[in-house]
Amino acid sequence: MPNYPTTESPNHLIAIIGGTGKEGSAIAARFAKAGLRVIIGSRDATKGENAARELNARWNVTTIEGTSNRDAAARADIVLLAVPYAGMRPILEDLRDVVQGKIVINVASSLDPERKSRAKPPAAGSVTAEVQQFLGESARVVCAFQNIAPEKLEAVDEKIDTDVIVCGDDKDARATVIELIRRIGIEAFDGGALVNAVAVEAMTAILIAINIKYKVRGAGIRITGVPRG
Ligand SMILES: NC(=O)c1ccc[n+]([C@@H]2O[C@H](COP(=O)([O-])OP(=O)(O)OC[C@H]3O[C@@H](n4cnc5c(N)ncnc54)[C@H](OP(=O)(O)O)[C@@H]3O)[C@@H](O)[C@H]2O)c1
Repeated sequence: MPNYPTTESPNHLIAIIGGTGKEGSAIAARFAKAGLRVIIGSRDATKGENAARELNARWNVTTIEGTSNRDAAARADIVLLAVPYAGMRPILEDLRDVVQGKIVINVASSLDPERKSRAKPPAAGSVTAEVQQFLGESARVVCAFQNIAPEKLEAVDEKIDTDVIVCGDDKDARATVIELIRRIGIEAFDGGALVNAVAVEAMTAILIAINIKYKVRGAGIRITGVPRG
């Protein structure tokens, strides 16, 4: 079992696989601005390095590194998957051995490619469940960030008016990820078991439908009836 930090020693190193893209780079910026250590991963290490350089310059930080997906995942203790579902399988094959024992955060939802306002869950029930199945029981897979658009994340000085729900079968992994998300100014809630990730991922399709219907960008969700931190 690797020696990963717990909520008692939260000096995490977070790999953002596909951190060159819209959602991953926005999450990277938000983490880095909160003082957390981030490594951008890319299928092309040079692209990862360049993305890190650009993000450091844009966000006036120096702590974002960039490298290949595999190197980023191997060095980090928390690995966040920010790649499209359609391109995920070869990336998971590349990372499978280096993420064992680590927390893996999936941000992807499965949407109908013909109509993204419609959910299209995979046979496993959710993308997050499929990631868990593929990586095996030792990987501590959770879902998070499905329902937040990059534009909101990039407003790094603002507390985001949208909640994050974290689901997965490892209770300690859920607690660690919730604490991490709260550190970047976003309220996060424990949504229970991995099987519940289907609802979080389907919510992405609902929010896209709402964006279209009401001609807005970045519709979000809010949990009510629970005391806030
Ligand atoms: N955009 C949103 O509003 C939003 C909100 C919540 C969650 N998400 C989720 O976040 C994930 C990333 O979304 P995004 O909008 O950031 O996507 P993106 O910009 O299209 O792609 C992110 C990165 O993934 C890699 N990639 C792209 N296509 C790939 C493919 N076919 N196979 C393997 N790698 C590929 C690329 O990195 P390299 O070329 O550097 O390898 C790219 O920079 C998705 O799963 C999405 O569902 C998005």
